[in-house]
Amino acid sequence: MSEIVAARTPSYSRIELATVSSRAQANLLGNIHGGEVLKLADSTAGVVAQRHSGGPAVTAALDEMAFLEPVRVGDIVRTFGQINWVGTSSMEIGVRIETQPWDATTELRHVGSAYFVFVAIDGAGAARPVPALEPETDDDRRRMREAEIRRAHRLAKRREIEAVRLG
Ligand SMILES: CC(C)(COP(=O)(O)OP(=O)(O)OC[C@H]1O[C@@H](n2cnc3c(N)ncnc32)[C@H](O)[C@@H]1OP(=O)(O)O)[C@@H](O)C(=O)NCCC(=O)NCCS
Repeated sequence: MSEIVAARTPSYSRIELATVSSRAQANLLGNIHGGEVLKLADSTAGVVAQRHSGGPAVTAALDEMAFLEPVRVGDIVRTFGQINWVGTSSMEIGVRIETQPWDATTELRHVGSAYFVFVAIDGAGAARPVPALEPETDDDRRRMREAEIRRAHRLAKRREIEAVRLG
């Protein structure tokens, strides 16, 4: 049974993961397949969601994934995950993806960013409430405002599509 906590800060659940990309993950062009990058970002966001919510959480939606530059075979891929916003049982988690060649200590390259919505679930798979989010820094507060904009757009889009379908 997970502990009931009123609020947690973004730094409580923030995480960084790293891996070395392999030839088996490459696409026909010889770069790392976008789906592989997405999977790593999803796993990173999943750890953040489970830490913040203190139990299991599932991916409900991927709001945005921007691929800025290719990831190459042999690159060290680092992902940085942070919770941006929470609702009742849903959470928005931002993931920044950076790479560095395995054989050079050059600057990290920002190759992509993604925003995931995770929902905390109970043992029966139903949504369960999560702790509130207590932003600590100006960056945390900016990320929270930006996440609210993405949520408002997502809901507006859904309402608009439903209205069209209902004629
Ligand atoms: C995510 C899931 C638990 C939501 O269940 P549900 O019965 O729709 O839950 P509710 O309607 O009570 O909504 C619960 C929360 O999820 C949010 N939510 C549900 N579907 C969502 C979607 N597509 N996008 C964003 N948020 C969503 C709701 O806004 C609500 O947020 P809030 O509690 O913060 O207000 C359910 O749809 C599910 O299990 N999906 C499959 C998840 C999965 O297997 N992921 C792995 C992908 S392979």
